[in-house]
Amino acid sequence: MEIIEHRSLKGFNTFGIDIKARHYLPLHDVSELPAINIHDYPSFLVLGGGSNILFRDDFEGLVIHNLIKGISVEEETNEHAIIKVGAGENWHDFVCWAIDHNYGGVENLALIPGCVGAAPVQNIGAYGVELKDVFYKLDAYDFRDGQYFEKDHSSCAFGYRDSVFKNELKGRCCILNVYLKLTKKHSISATYGAITTVLDSYGIDDPGISDVAKAVIEIRSSKLPDPKKLGNGGSFFKNPVISKVQLNKLQHKFPAIVFYEIDDASVKVPAGWLIDQAGWKGRKMGNAQCHEKQALVIVNLGAASGQEIYDLSEAIYQSVLDIYGIALEREVNVL
Ligand code: EPU
Repeated sequence: MEIIEHRSLKGFNTFGIDIKARHYLPLHDVSELPAINIHDYPSFLVLGGGSNILFRDDFEGLVIHNLIKGISVEEETNEHAIIKVGAGENWHDFVCWAIDHNYGGVENLALIPGCVGAAPVQNIGAYGVELKDVFYKLDAYDFRDGQYFEKDHSSCAFGYRDSVFKNELKGRCCILNVYLKLTKKHSISATYGAITTVLDSYGIDDPGISDVAKAVIEIRSSKLPDPKKLGNGGSFFKNPVISKVQLNKLQHKFPAIVFYEIDDASVKVPAGWLIDQAGWKGRKMGNAQCHEKQALVIVNLGAASGQEIYDLSEAIYQSVLDIYGIALEREVNVL
């Protein structure tokens, strides 16, 4: 086990914030876990792809960097395959592997940054599909009692960008492997408007999984900034759910407000629309900018500190609260 002191995490967070971890442990093998005593440190953090985290300052505790790799087929029938994926695998690389091997179910989730272990934590989702739709089970390690454990679908409490790992199990465990149930006879989900438009432009009316992935990659690349070129953490805020009563009131003042029905009593409003209409799209504060093509994303123009990114998010939060009376919730984890 190798612990490095004062390690820069600049290359390990997609905002590209230059902060240091007081102690840094690259974790390659699950057997190393019992030797880690988290009580030796003031705090600890399991870092995956670093794509949903904003560091405002140096991290004074222990950063455990999950680099557990491996993709294997555990079970296979004519219809399905259960695939075991190491938590440290890159999510998009795994999606490409699945498509190359003709396993379906994750094609709509192409190009989502981050690693496989983080996917269940926030139940990643895009273009009508969420991780929970293909999730089978996972295995993990609990630092509090030093035990390995498994979680099946029903015990993960998946919700919109939410799971048990963001609540009861927050800050105490490390996901090791994720098992996904993928299809061999595919059911294509291409009803999301933007996907249909792109597939039409390709002249494809009976798409396969690789066509859908290609369309998703085209849509995402056209409006979401590539973190390698412009540091960012994807959607900074969640799309808020409000009551229909509140929606009716807002519609009087903002007749063009966009919303999606959730149930009889509530709707989801795209935070990107609220932020855009509030005039933030493209606006800069220091080295942080509300992205020019998708207002839900905050980007690092090059030399932003975590605090600068946070300050812009706070200004956006206040402005949306003042104008619409809606308190946005951050999707990115702020430290
Ligand atoms: N909109 C604007 N201005 C903007 C951005 C969006 O008016 O600057 C409007 C759009 O016109 C559209 C609506 O908001 O009517 C929704 O926009 P979009 O389809 O781009 O999706 P989103 O709600 O902004 C969500 C996810 C994304 C995911 C897309 C596609 C959340 C917080 N975000 O974004 O996820 O890729 O749907 O399914 O749910 C991520 O989590 O990092 C992420 C990128």
